[in-house]
Amino acid sequence: MSTPEQPAPFSAVLRAASSAEHEAAEQSSFMSRLLGGRLGVEAYADLTGQLWYVYRALEGRAAELAEHPVAGPFIDRALMRTAAIERDLAHLRGPGWRDALAPLPATAAYVDRLEWLAAEWPAGYVAHHYTRYLGDLSGGQIIRGIAEKTWGFARKGDGVRFYVFDGIDNPAAAKREYRAKLDAAGLALDDIERHRVTEECKRAFALNGAVFRDLDARYPLSA
Ligand code: HEM
Repeated sequence: MSTPEQPAPFSAVLRAASSAEHEAAEQSSFMSRLLGGRLGVEAYADLTGQLWYVYRALEGRAAELAEHPVAGPFIDRALMRTAAIERDLAHLRGPGWRDALAPLPATAAYVDRLEWLAAEWPAGYVAHHYTRYLGDLSGGQIIRGIAEKTWGFARKGDGVRFYVFDGIDNPAAAKREYRAKLDAAGLALDDIERHRVTEECKRAFALNGAVFRDLDARYPLSA
C-alpha cells in the first residue's frame, strides 16, 4: 500500500492509468484490421512511415535530454528506433522512400507535442517515452510476429527491424529495469507533477489513437 511519504510505484500508476487507453489502441479499427490480416502490406508500410516522424521527434533531442535530471536516465541508445525504421522503409518502399512520405495531420500534431515537451517539459516527455518504448518491447513483439507471418518478412529482418532491439539481450529484464527507472522518476516528482505526467501518458495514447484513425481512413472498408 502507498502512504503519503511513499507513493505507489510510478510504473504501476502509469500502467493502471493508461490501461483503458491501451485496450482502445489495441482494439482500434486500424490495428484490428492490420493485425487481423485484413489490410495489405501497404498499410503496414504506411504505419511505419508515420512512426518514422514520431521516433525522429522522440529521439532528435536525445543529447540535451540525457542531461536532464528526470528524463536523462531514460535516454538509452539501445532503445533508439530511427535507424531501424529507415532500414524497414528502404525495404518496404525502396531507396526513394523519403520522397513520397508525408506526415498525416494526427502525426504532425503528435510530433508537435513531442518537440514541445522535449524542449519545455522533459518530465512530460517521459510519459511519451514510456508509452512508445515499453509498448514496443511488449506488444511490439506480438506485432512483429504477426507482420512476419502476414507479409512474409524474414524473422527479425528487413521490414520488422523496428520491433527488433539488437542492443537488448533480455527484454523481460530490460522492462524490469525500465520500470525501476519510472519508479525512481516518480519519487523525484511531487504529487502535482506525477499527476501531470500521468495525464500526459493518457494523452500519448490518445495521440497514437488519432494516428491510427487517420491511417484507418486511408483504407476504406471494402464492401
Ligand atoms: C494491437 C496492438 C497491441 C498489442 C497486441 C499490445 C499488446 C501488449 C501486451 C501483451 C502488453 C503486456 C506485456 C507485459 O506485461 O509484459 C503490452 C504492454 C504495453 N503496451 Fe501494448 N499492445 C498493442 C498496442 C499498443 C499501443 C498502440 C501502445 C502505445 C502506443 C502500447 C503501449 C503499451 C505499453 C506502454 C505497455 C506497457 C504497460 C506496462 O506494463 O506498464 N501498446 N501491450
